[in-house]
Amino acid sequence: MSQTWWRGAAIYQVYLRSFADGNGDGIGDLAGLRSRLTYLKDLGVDAIWLNPWYPSPMADGGYDVADYRDIEPVFGTLEEAEAFIAEAHELDIKVIIDVVPNHSSTESAWFKEALADRRARDRFWFRDEPDNDWRSIFGGPAWTQVADGQWYLHLFAPEQPDFNWDNPDVHREFEDVLRFWFDRGVDGFRIDSAALLFKSADGYEDLDGVHDVYRRWREVADEYGGRVLIGEVWLPDQERFARYLRPDELHTAFNFDFLSCPWEPAALRRVIDLTLATHTPIGAPPTWVLSNHDVTRPVTRYGRADTAFEHGGRLHGAPSDLELGYRRARAAALLAMALPGSVYVYQGEELGLPEVEDLPDEVRQDPMYARSGGTNPGRDGCRVPLPWSGDGPPFGFGPVPRTDAEAGAAAPWLPQPESWRKLTAEAQAGDLGSMLNLYRSGLALRRDLLGDGTLTWLPSAADVLAFTRDSGLACVTNLGRTPAPLPPGRVVLSSGPLDEGELPPDTTAWVLPPGSEA
Ligand code: GLC
Ligand code: CA
Repeated sequence: MSQTWWRGAAIYQVYLRSFADGNGDGIGDLAGLRSRLTYLKDLGVDAIWLNPWYPSPMADGGYDVADYRDIEPVFGTLEEAEAFIAEAHELDIKVIIDVVPNHSSTESAWFKEALADRRARDRFWFRDEPDNDWRSIFGGPAWTQVADGQWYLHLFAPEQPDFNWDNPDVHREFEDVLRFWFDRGVDGFRIDSAALLFKSADGYEDLDGVHDVYRRWREVADEYGGRVLIGEVWLPDQERFARYLRPDELHTAFNFDFLSCPWEPAALRRVIDLTLATHTPIGAPPTWVLSNHDVTRPVTRYGRADTAFEHGGRLHGAPSDLELGYRRARAAALLAMALPGSVYVYQGEELGLPEVEDLPDEVRQDPMYARSGGTNPGRDGCRVPLPWSGDGPPFGFGPVPRTDAEAGAAAPWLPQPESWRKLTAEAQAGDLGSMLNLYRSGLALRRDLLGDGTLTWLPSAADVLAFTRDSGLACVTNLGRTPAPLPPGRVVLSSGPLDEGELPPDTTAWVLPPGSEA
């Protein structure tokens, strides 16, 4: 694969705890992932991005990192991680891991040292009194007091103390961590909370210092070649966002405007145009993201009256027409895959999983839930372990039992709905009309005909999005209420059946022009 493989890649997000459990303790792990690598190969992805796999007390699903140079024992060992990287590479799949530079864990060596010795506190934000009245992004105060009376800052949970990026140790440490994993063959990093590192009296979002950090990281990545830095940058201001993607900074960043966008033609067209206008002048490829481990699953979201996503208002429990949501999620998947740049698939999207909204309160683990006093249900509903096979929970999430002891395997760490029996990978594999096969076909065609490049809008009704790509393939999405005409040519894939040659509402079709070979 070329050095710029990431420009048009299809990247599959693995939330390791919920992907596949190799040892039967109810928690996904590296053994489980390794046993399912051919599934990802058959799905047709170019790269895997894994959420944090480091040793962690799991106060925030692994985003509280105790040691950046090892693997969480529940997930496996460093040797297994290396074997996994080698096996993925063998299948021509790149490996991207998460790095969490804004904060650490209260169980990290540095934080323990800081607690034991006041002179070792400058790598974090310790103060005699809180400097401000900031609130934690998960709810509650952003400052916590330690036994000797000082306070430390944590933008997220109290178990996640923020680093002080004015301290040179922190810079050195992270450059070294990047090298540690690049040396082990990792192809890139997804940078958690990438815009939040610096703090000042004015706030913490998008302060200028971050750009020097990423310029330095880019130099490190460039020493290795073919590696990618991907920013988690939630910034509404496109000009500020684009600064992260200057040629000597990050390679790409998640398109959260697209993810948050309602299923409405004018809004979608505006987001696509704005995305292209932001990226094209700086030569950075856009990314197209519908979902991840922090947001409501698209099938549920698109079936609601309000189809937008907002962190503050998750609309948990709002009535959802799941059939409508499913149809739209299929149409959205083909739209996202057809747009120029790279595309992300969050595990379970390819199975059409809905958000699990009826988890019992006592099983919820997201700190958002507890810290909001239960008013925000949090993100557990999009993190329920995947259904692989069989007629009932655990749906093949754990290993196939070979002994009686194994048959007593622990239940998945979050309960799966009974109704998922229709959504297992096994049930969908043989059904040509399934979501899984839509993703497989879409990703296969995308490999040859789509990905990096440019887009040209075709004339269409206002509630239809129609464009062609460099290969000549046209993508048409009907967001209106009546069937829409398709351009002449051969329909190579559609998210639902056509209606006498026309495209029904909430459907996307890919059309190759007459006479083309592909
Ligand atoms: C990012 C992650 C999220 C995590 C937070 C704190 O937003 O995606 O899951 O809770 O950062 O690390
Ligand atoms: Ca396990």
